[in-house]
Amino acid sequence: MAKPPLSMKPTGWFQVAWSDEIGVGDVHRMTYFGEEMVAWRAESGGLTVMNAYCEHLGAHLGYGGKVVGEVLQCPFHGWQWSQQGRNVCIPYQDRPNRGRRIRTYPVVERNESVYVWHDVQRREPFFDPPDVFASFGDGSGADGYYPQQRLFRVGLELHPQYVLENGVDFAHFKYVHNTPIVPVFTRHDFAEPVSFVDFTITFEGDDGQRIEDVNSGVEAINGGLGIAVTKSWGMVDNRTISAITPVDESTSDVRFMVYIGRRPGKDPARAATKAAEFGREVIRQFEQDIEIWAHQRYSDPPALATSEYEGFTAIRAWATQFYPEAFASQKG
Ligand code: FES
Ligand SMILES: [Fe+2]
Repeated sequence: MAKPPLSMKPTGWFQVAWSDEIGVGDVHRMTYFGEEMVAWRAESGGLTVMNAYCEHLGAHLGYGGKVVGEVLQCPFHGWQWSQQGRNVCIPYQDRPNRGRRIRTYPVVERNESVYVWHDVQRREPFFDPPDVFASFGDGSGADGYYPQQRLFRVGLELHPQYVLENGVDFAHFKYVHNTPIVPVFTRHDFAEPVSFVDFTITFEGDDGQRIEDVNSGVEAINGGLGIAVTKSWGMVDNRTISAITPVDESTSDVRFMVYIGRRPGKDPARAATKAAEFGREVIRQFEQDIEIWAHQRYSDPPALATSEYEGFTAIRAWATQFYPEAFASQKG
C-alpha cells in the first residue's frame, strides 16, 4: 500500500453518485477531490453538483439544506442558491448578493450514473463521458439488457490510472483472472482524450489453444482517467462501466457496473437468474483486480517486458494530458 505519486486532482469526468441515489428534493453529501460537495435535485428534475459551503457564513448545505422548487435554501439564514450557484434570495433584504457564487460542476447523468467534470483550471469539458451503449455505435440500449448490477468500494488507496493501465496489461489476465491463454491486443488508440483498446480474449478451454483460433474479445473505451466502458463479443453478452473517483490525496472510490444481455428464451425467470449469476462473476473478476490495485505501489519507471513496452508507454503518455501543469507546479 502506498500513496500514489500521481496527482489526485486529474482533469476529466468522474462518477460521484448514482442517479437513483438523488431523488427530487434530495440533498446528497459527498467528498471528492478533497472538496465537500452536495448534489441536489430540483423539482423539475435538474441535478446540481456544487461545493457544500454557503457563501454567506459558511453553513454546510448538506446538513439541513432544503430544495425549494428550483433553488437550494441554506439551513442557517435561508439564503437561496440557484442551479448555477448564484445567490437569488436573501429573505431579509430586497435584493440578492449578485457577486457571490458557489462553485458548481458540469454534470451529466448517463447510464444511471452522475458524472461531474473536474478541472483544477476550471476549463470547460473538452470531451464527453462515454456511454456504455451509444459509444459503441451498434444500436444497443439498456432495454436489451438486464438491470445494472453494481459494486461500490469506498476509500481505497489507489489511483484511477492504475485501473486504466489494467486495460493494456495483457499478462495479468492469465494470473489474476485465470484465462487459459494470454490475450492479444488488436487496437491501441491513444490519439484523443477518449481512447480505445480492443483485445482478443477467452475464458474457456485450455492452455493448448492458439489465440488465432479464439473467437471472442473485448472492446474498451476510456473517457479520460475516470470512466471506462467495455463491450464483449463472442461470449456471454456483457457491458461494463468502471469509474474511479479520487476522494482525497490518497484514496479513491471505485464503482463498477455490469449489464448482461437479454436473450429470447422459453424460461425468462431462469434466464434472469443465470444473467444475475454471470453478472456477479464479472464483478468477482473485477474484485480480483481491486485486491491488487488497492495494495500496489506505482512503479515509475516500471520494469517492462519487451512486449509490454508499447502499450504502457502509450497509455502513460496519454495520461499526462489529464494532469495540468498548473497543478504540478503548485504541488512543487
Ligand atoms: S450561512 Fe447560509 S444563509 Fe447564512
Ligand atoms: Fe483485470
